[in-house]
Amino acid sequence: MFKLTAIFAAVLPLLHLVAGQSEEWGQCGGIGWTGATTCVAGTVCTELNSYYSQCLPGAAPSSVPSVPTTTAGAPPGTSSTTTAPTGLSSIPASTLYQITNFGTNPTNVGMYVYKPAKVASNPPLIVAIHYCSGTAQAYYTGSTFAQLAETYGYVVLFPNSPNSGTCWDVSSTATLTHNGGGDSLGIASAARYAISNWGVDPSRVFAAGTSSGAMMTSVLAGAYPDVFQAGVVDSGVAFGCFALPGQPGDSWNSECSTGEEILTGQEWAQKVYAAYPGFTGEYPKMQVWHGTIDTTLYPQNFWEEIKQWTTVFDYPSTPISNVSESYLPQGYSNSTFGPRFQAILAQNVGHTVPLFEQQYLQFFGLA
Ligand SMILES: *[C@@H]1O[C@H](CO)[C@@H](O)[C@H](O)[C@H]1NC(C)=O
Ligand SMILES: *[C@@H]1O[C@H](CO)[C@@H](O)[C@H](O)[C@H]1NC(C)=O
Repeated sequence: MFKLTAIFAAVLPLLHLVAGQSEEWGQCGGIGWTGATTCVAGTVCTELNSYYSQCLPGAAPSSVPSVPTTTAGAPPGTSSTTTAPTGLSSIPASTLYQITNFGTNPTNVGMYVYKPAKVASNPPLIVAIHYCSGTAQAYYTGSTFAQLAETYGYVVLFPNSPNSGTCWDVSSTATLTHNGGGDSLGIASAARYAISNWGVDPSRVFAAGTSSGAMMTSVLAGAYPDVFQAGVVDSGVAFGCFALPGQPGDSWNSECSTGEEILTGQEWAQKVYAAYPGFTGEYPKMQVWHGTIDTTLYPQNFWEEIKQWTTVFDYPSTPISNVSESYLPQGYSNSTFGPRFQAILAQNVGHTVPLFEQQYLQFFGLA
């Protein structure tokens, strides 16, 4: 009792000393949180769960309308199984809508779709993948992927992590293996489902993600190059860098995160090839973004990604052009290594690089 009181006495004055504001994507509240509870301008402190509130760009999210996946009008209690609607016409427009039964999903990845009011014929598909502590809903409200779908007519899938801290399984052998299981298979199944049932153009299926979602994007590019045609990796790591065989899939690999996993381009490329040995097609186009002062996934990971993808694409290891772009903040450099690989380094940017969705759409050939 005395000890507890002493601890409180020691902690409470600290709470009053805390000043300042949390950065974009930074924590701003939750049980046990003693840091800043206000967010920098342009971001809103958003409660994701009782343990974690985060400064998300833009406005505070509205709640996701929960639409039952059972057939409308069915007498209650008559059906114990819910069936996903098949055709795209049965998906309500301009809202985040949960689908189930979209194929093999061994880890129970949650899946939400956003269909714009006007869908392009044979629409492209973007799978937009959230960060640790994030959710499908948080990424939906914290990004403009859905909003831009209204202009460009593509369909968005927002997967939702089944893991307790909502990181993605980017570590298990299953997830790093083509059709091997893990979270990656659930996501790939939903993309395949969209191709089979919604008329999605199989040559325009893309993935983009932030942090853990960026790492998952690399995983999908390496393990499902037959499904995805391009990936945007915002503050992630090379394919296979988080591998921790035999440990729970969402385990954190601190050797990789701190940039101590340094391999040759050949070694990195072998990890990609080993994920899907029978694959003979072209690997997805990749665009990777990283901040130079990232202390969650250290910037060395940017250089490891460059080694990996330039080897896979058989490109020179140094850029053929490296320029600043007028639409990007000062200190960002865009290095092009070949038509299928670009790497953007952001000076003095931490974890994570802000989203530039309009640019991703250009990279995907959609805008
Ligand atoms: C591109 O140029 C910038 C600015 O000189 C430099 O910091 C960065 O390392 C270069 N990028 C690559 C991939 O070489
Ligand atoms: C990087 O430069 C290439 C070549 O000019 C360009 O096609 C691409 O859009 C640029 N990428 C970004 C992110 O600005």
